[in-house]
Amino acid sequence: MQKTIIITGGAGFIGSHVVREFVKKYPHYRIINIDALTYAGNLENLRDIEREANYFFVKADITDAAHILSIFQEYQPDGVIHLAAESHVDRSITNPTAFVMTNVIGTVNLLNAAKEIWKDNYEGKRFHHVSTDEVFGALGDTGLFAEDTKYDPHSPYSASKASSDHFVRAYHDTYGLPIVLTNCSNNYGPNHFPEKLIPLCIHNILHGKPLPIYGDGKYTRDWLFVIDHAKAIDLVFHQGKNGDSYNVGGFNEWQNIDLVKELCKQMDEKLGRPAGTADQLITYVKDRPGHDLRYAIDASKINEELGYKPSVTFEQGLSITIDWFLNNEEWLNHVTSGDYRKYYEEQYR
Ligand code: NAD
Ligand code: TYD
Repeated sequence: MQKTIIITGGAGFIGSHVVREFVKKYPHYRIINIDALTYAGNLENLRDIEREANYFFVKADITDAAHILSIFQEYQPDGVIHLAAESHVDRSITNPTAFVMTNVIGTVNLLNAAKEIWKDNYEGKRFHHVSTDEVFGALGDTGLFAEDTKYDPHSPYSASKASSDHFVRAYHDTYGLPIVLTNCSNNYGPNHFPEKLIPLCIHNILHGKPLPIYGDGKYTRDWLFVIDHAKAIDLVFHQGKNGDSYNVGGFNEWQNIDLVKELCKQMDEKLGRPAGTADQLITYVKDRPGHDLRYAIDASKINEELGYKPSVTFEQGLSITIDWFLNNEEWLNHVTSGDYRKYYEEQYR
């Protein structure tokens, strides 16, 4: 094997697509997926590649510093792609401490382990931290987030991610650790956990349940197909400039209400239901506290420096996503049984 790469959070939504991309594209890399398998981690996401000779799974919690160091000592990775995180804003409002533990302490544990085993000889080594556009805060009606936009997080989730970004940069500035960061906009696609807007609405349309729209529904997000995020991570991990960060997005802004209406339209067509059926499920509910009005990414740096372009349009990506959920009802049933129901009742009662 030419290289060993540790990918954290590889059983989650985005992580599973990154693991698949690397396992398939680089058969000469040994890919070690480290994941604690929280409610969001699901090895079913990786069934198609779990028997590949270059794929290994290690169940570990990144908040456990000693365990993480021992895994790094055993596998001696050349690179780390760090995605493990608590990722849902609403959960961060109910339980912020879990976000500090995993997103901040967990990240520092990984940085310490990388620094320790690389012992200041950083030749050929790289720590890629996967972050979010939410660290930049909220935009008004105009403007875009660039790489040098000032950090201004508002939710406990974005505050914890911002903190982890600062630690990654601090390890570069203080110890010379070779790092890159990516800050990506909202992802959607296959295997998306149905606590987030798009898969939650797909699930509820299938079951004839209300589609909860926070506030007036005019909040705006910039959506990128998850496989295009995985491709951007591949590009930046291999070609990004040491110490730099890259914003990733598809110049694809939607107000939540318009997005949900588009989803309703496509779902009615695919399910053979009369037009307007799913629209009737739209229900305005209490707003999320501290709700950021608008996120929008200026992705020109990654485009101009590394030639990055998303591979699908939003229409194509949404259609692929809906088809995947319609063809994988068993996956959806598994993840929406048990704990999910309790969460759902508490969040939307
Ligand atoms: P996810 O919640 O679907 O998956 C997170 C994964 O991390 C799960 O497999 C979970 O088991 C694992 N994990 C959680 N805590 C852990 C711990 N203490 N130790 C080890 N593993 C742990 O998240 P996602 O949506 O796939 O996001 C992945 C990364 O990408 C996160 O860092 C997130 O901040 C970032 N990101 C997400 C989006 C998005 O739209 N979802 C956008 C930009 C950036
Ligand atoms: P979400 O998918 O949770 O992603 P994020 O908060 O990280 O952007 O939410 C996307 C948008 O949809 C956000 O503005 C909140 C809104 N939203 C709803 O209106 N209803 C819901 O039930 C959920 C989960 C989100």
